[in-house]
This record gives sequence, C-alpha cells and structure tokens, in this order.
Amino acid sequence: MADAPQGSPRALGVPDVIARKGSGAPLVMVTAYDAPSARAVDAAGVDLILVGDSVAMVVLGYDDTLHVTVDDIAHHTGAVARTTPRALVVADLPWMSYHRSREETVGNAAQLVRAGATAVKLEGGRKRLDAVGAILDAEIPVMGHLGLTPQSVNQLGGYRVQGKTLDAARVIVDDAVALAEAGCFALVLECVPDAVARMVTDSVPVPTIGIGAGRHCDGQVLVYHDILGFEDRVRPRFVRRYADLQSDATRGIERFAADVRAGRFPASGETYHAADTVSEALGLYGSVEHATA
Ligand code: KIV
Repeated sequence: MADAPQGSPRALGVPDVIARKGSGAPLVMVTAYDAPSARAVDAAGVDLILVGDSVAMVVLGYDDTLHVTVDDIAHHTGAVARTTPRALVVADLPWMSYHRSREETVGNAAQLVRAGATAVKLEGGRKRLDAVGAILDAEIPVMGHLGLTPQSVNQLGGYRVQGKTLDAARVIVDDAVALAEAGCFALVLECVPDAVARMVTDSVPVPTIGIGAGRHCDGQVLVYHDILGFEDRVRPRFVRRYADLQSDATRGIERFAADVRAGRFPASGETYHAADTVSEALGLYGSVEHATA
C-alpha cells in the first residue's frame, strides 16, 4: 500500500489497536452509519468507528437489531469508508450472517471488507469459534462481543445486564479467553458488572472495549445517536449525553417553517436574480426584489 500523503495522519491498523492493551491510553470507539457521522467522529479523533447493527434501531426505525441484513450493513459501511477515516472501521456481521456455514460466514465478512471495513464484529462466545476461525482463515480481523448480545434479545428475554451470578460471570470470562485464543483482536463487553469486565480485561491479552461495563476496560464505546442526544426514546444508565441534537434539529426546522410561513424565507440574498435586461424582457422589472450585490 502507498504511504499516506505527507501531513495526513496514518490510518490505524489492527496491530495499533492491540498495542494499546494495558498502555494506559484507553481506546475510543463510536458508531457511525453514514458519511456525516463518520466525518464527525473521525474529526474528533476516535480510534475505531463501528458500523454497528444498532443502525437498525437508531437509523432505520426497527425495534431490535434482528432486521438488518449484510446488504444493509455493507451499504452503511460504504458510506463511512468513502470518507477515508483515520479510525479503523469495524463492521457488524448481522444476525444470521455467521450462523449457517463457514462458506456463507466468510462470504458475508468479505462483502463487508469489500464495502470498506477493515475488520468485522460478531456476537457470542465459544459457540462462535468455528465462525471466528473461518473468517480469520480468510485474513479478516475479527472483534468479539460478549455480555449482552443484542442479536440474542429473544433468548435473553430483553436487554438485561449479563454475568450477574458467579456461574454466569465465569462463562463470560471463559468465552473471552477462548475468543482471544482463537485470534480475536479485541472484545466488546456490553452490560456486565464492572467486576466481570475487570476479570475479563485481566484475563485476555487483547483490548476489551466496554459499553455499560464500567471503567476497568481497555476502551469504551457508545452509540453516536446516544452521545449526541438524537435518540431520546430510551436512555440506558451507561449513556452519557454530550449534546441534545434531536431537540436542536426540531427547533431549527421549526424556525425554518415559521420563516417560510411568514414570508421571511427566502430573502433577496438567498435568491438568484436575473439581469435587469432579462427581467425587463420577461415583463417582470419592478415586480421582483433585486439583489443589491
Ligand atoms: O451495534 C452496535 O452499536 C454495537 C455496540 C453496542 C457495541 O454493537
């Protein structure tokens, strides 16, 4: 691959992410689903962009993540990747895209790489080792995802904190060790008690990235729409909101609508004007407002 042009920061690679384990410099991952959100998070200097299957809920209006397909994720991954972010782009393998056969799993992961992802993420522990191995055999980096795995929402009976009993905590730790040994370069830990996240973080040689998993992880991830206050229907305890853009958007559109209805928009400076001679020929001279500039 050619060197990055002088002055432009080098894109982050998987080895850069792994090297952050225990470095004291926490990884920052934020979701993005289109070019504007990708530009915003990359300009903010995040390390990883996740094209998450949460797109189903925060962008596409579904009640869960089970409705998105590989084509959907590829579509959104392409939009993110075309902004050529410095951050490493990880794309979610959606439900039923890595459950049937090794061949189908690899084909789906490859589709996301061809759309612009550097790595893919999948949910689940030891029962996913075959899928992880197949994808890694195709030279595609894999991020694991343990704890609350939203693609299992029906089996879990809702979006609940996982790993609350000793046995359940041990399953998560053992799953994490198995995924790391299989070659996952990082693990997302979602909605687990902080003691469990700490145990996992201390037990694996790859970075853990927490969401609702407390501070003892090697990094943190949040959903773009949650951070910026676009998503105001539910607010889990682990979300910290840094802006209120949904309300700002509504207020901005209200002001536009009011200006249109009151005849304040468009103003002369927001209008293309014909030359006086053309207006005269059209018989409109004097009947239209003219730009002064
Ligand atoms: O899809 C998503 O946004 C995710 C995060 C919750 C980690 O998987």
